[in-house]
Amino acid sequence: MKHEMNLSKLFPSREEIPHEMRQSELHQERYLADGKLKVWEKATQEVVSPVYFSIATGGHEQALLGSYPMMNGETAMEVLDSAVRAYDDGRGEWPTMSLEQRIRCMVNFTERMKGKRDEVIKLIMWEIGKSYKDAAKEFDRTVTYIYDTLEELKDLDRDSSRFQLHEGIIAQTRRTPLGVVLCMGPFNYPLNETFATLIPALIMGNTVIFKPPKNGVLLHYPLLEAFQQAFPKGAVNTVYGKGQEVITPLLGSGKINVLAFIGSSKVANILKKQHPKPHRMRSILGLEAKNPAIIMPDADIDLAVKEGVLGALSYNGQRCTALKIFFVRESIAQEYTQKFVEALNQLKLGMPWEDNVHITPLPEAGKVAYLKALVEDAVNKGAEVLNPHGGEHVASFFYPALLYPVNKTMHVYNEEQFGPVIPMRTFKNIEEPLEYIISSNYGQQVSIFGNNPDEIAHLIDPLVNQVSRVNLNSQCQRGPDVFPFTGRKDSAEGTLSVFDALRSFSIRSLVAAKGNEANKKLINRIVKDRDSNFLSTDYIL
Ligand code: G3H
Repeated sequence: MKHEMNLSKLFPSREEIPHEMRQSELHQERYLADGKLKVWEKATQEVVSPVYFSIATGGHEQALLGSYPMMNGETAMEVLDSAVRAYDDGRGEWPTMSLEQRIRCMVNFTERMKGKRDEVIKLIMWEIGKSYKDAAKEFDRTVTYIYDTLEELKDLDRDSSRFQLHEGIIAQTRRTPLGVVLCMGPFNYPLNETFATLIPALIMGNTVIFKPPKNGVLLHYPLLEAFQQAFPKGAVNTVYGKGQEVITPLLGSGKINVLAFIGSSKVANILKKQHPKPHRMRSILGLEAKNPAIIMPDADIDLAVKEGVLGALSYNGQRCTALKIFFVRESIAQEYTQKFVEALNQLKLGMPWEDNVHITPLPEAGKVAYLKALVEDAVNKGAEVLNPHGGEHVASFFYPALLYPVNKTMHVYNEEQFGPVIPMRTFKNIEEPLEYIISSNYGQQVSIFGNNPDEIAHLIDPLVNQVSRVNLNSQCQRGPDVFPFTGRKDSAEGTLSVFDALRSFSIRSLVAAKGNEANKKLINRIVKDRDSNFLSTDYIL
C-alpha cells in the first residue's frame, strides 16, 4: 500500500530522463499538398507534452515539444484543390492506376515508414503520454494492418477478375473509389486510427486529406516525406489547425465525398451538417462508447478483476473500447471490489518510458479537472472512492478512482469518462444491466464474466442485437483488426476492419453488355490488349 505516496514526485527533472528517451524540440514548418512539402510561415501552435519536469525551485513545468502550422481557411482550400485535382473526377493518375501499381506505391510507402519507427514511437510517447511499449505496439500494429489490407485487397481483386453471365448479359464488377476522403483520427491512437481509414481509403483509389488530432500532430511529421515520395502528387495531403478554421470550409465546399472521423458523436453531428448536400457524403465514424462489464455470480473473480482493470485502465482508460461501468452481482460484490482495489494498488504509476508502467500523465487540457468533477459529483451523491489515493491528482496526472456504488443520478453513470475513473455498482437481477444497455445512447461492446452456459447463452442472444461485440470473460477491444469493428446508436457509423474498410471506402461499379457476338469481340479485344485497368482478367498474385 502506498499511503506515503506523493504524486508530485512522479515527475522527473530534465536530467533524470534516460538519454535514449529524450526528445528534442521539433518545429514542423511544412504541410503536404500538390506532391510538395510546402513551407508554412504564418501562425503556429505550440505543442506541449503531458509530461512535466520538476524544477529545482520546486513545482513543475510542462515539457515543450515543438510547434505545427495553424492553417487558415484559405490554405485549407488550396489543400482541397490539390486533392480534387489529383482525383480529377475519377480521371486522375491515382484513381485510374492499376491496382498492382497502387499496391507497389503502398509497399514503397510502408518500407519508408518502417525506417521512421523509432522517431514516430518516441513522438507518440511524448505527445500523448502513451507508454513506450504501447506506442511501439501502435506503430507495429499499423504496419501489420497495412500489409494485411494489401493481402485482403488482392483477394478482393482476384474475385473481381472474372466475367459473370446472367440472363444474356456479360458483366464485370469491381470496387471503385468515391472521390476525396477527409480522414480525422483521435488522440488516443493518433497513428493507428488515422491510418485505419487513410490507408484503405487511399489504396481504393481515393485521394485523401488528413488532419491529425490536436494532441498527436508531430508524430506524423517524419512520415510526410514518405507520403510525398511514394504516391503521385495530390494523392495524399495534410491540413492542421482549428476545426472551425480548416474543416468547416472543406466540408462546406461540398467537395468532400467521404468523411472518416474517429472522435465524439457531438463533433460528428456538427461536421456532417456542414456539407451542403449531406446525402452526397458517406460517413465512416468511430465514436464514443460506455461499454459495461457484467460480473455474474459464478465468474472467475481473479480473471474478472484482471481483465476488468486492464479494460478500465489500459492507456489510462483513454480507449473508446474501455470498460466504462461495472455491474457486479450483489452476492460477490464484496469480494470483487476488494480484489479490484488490491489490483489497483499494484499498478505502477510513472512516466511513459518506464518499464511496465500502467498509469501515465493525461494529454488533454482540462481533463484532470473534468475527472475531478466527475468524482466529486459521484461522491456528493453517495458513492465512495474505494481505493486509497483514488482521485488524487497533480498537474496532468490523475490517480485512478474506483467509485462505488454509482447510481443514475451521477454524471459518471452515463457520460463517457475516457480516463482513469471506474464506476461500479451491484445488481440483483440481470434485467438491471440489460436495461442499462437498452436505454444507453451507446452500443459498442459489452464484457460478460461468468461460466454458466445457459445463463451466458441467454445473455448473448439479446445483447448481440444491442451492441456490436459481446466479449466473454475478457475485456472489450477492437482487435484483431480482421474482426469487424463497429457500434450501434451514437457509437459508430459504418464498419472498420481489414476486410470492411476496403468496402467502406469504395463503391461497386460494373461494365455490362448484351452477350452478342459483336460485344464479345469488343470485350475480348480490350482484355487481350490490356487496354483497360478495370475491364481486365489479370490476377494479382
Ligand atoms: O479508442 C478506441 C479504440 O478503437 C480502441 O481500440 O481496443 O485496440 O484499444 P483497442
